[in-house]
Amino acid sequence: MSHASQSYDFSSPAAAYAVLGRDLTALLQGERDLIANAANTAALIYDALPDLNWAGFYLYKSGELVLGPFQGKPACVRIGMGKGVCGTAAARRETVLVEDVHAFPGHIACDSASNSEIVIPLLRGAELLGVLDLDSPKPARFKPADAQGLEALARIFLESLD
Ligand code: SME
Repeated sequence: MSHASQSYDFSSPAAAYAVLGRDLTALLQGERDLIANAANTAALIYDALPDLNWAGFYLYKSGELVLGPFQGKPACVRIGMGKGVCGTAAARRETVLVEDVHAFPGHIACDSASNSEIVIPLLRGAELLGVLDLDSPKPARFKPADAQGLEALARIFLESLD
């Protein structure tokens, strides 16, 4: 099976995320493996969204976040709870949208090209599974519509594991 790169029209973010959600559902259907589904989710998002330089997962293990499947340049492996944008989203258990990473206290710079970032926590009930992290070279790349759309994609990923 081949996954031809499809272009999504983000002039309407809600419509683009709806199509992407259907594609992600189809892509993950019938598979429950965490690593496999995280890898395909990261690949689909990285391929579909414009202006990204990194998209992937940090998984919660033994009290910290550990690098999981991703697309982009090699990244820092371990992030403590409350550290950086990822650790902040994980500790607060809420999406953190950063317009300018250089103005975010404690931001962890993995790729110097990154200027804005969004991190979505992955929660299965009360259990923290990890975070979904997206970086962009474009300042203020991520808007509330991206937060909503990416939270919906994160839910599809989480439901694929049940
Ligand atoms: N910038 C993140 C670290 C992970 S990389 O962006 C891939 C942070 O501050 O948590």
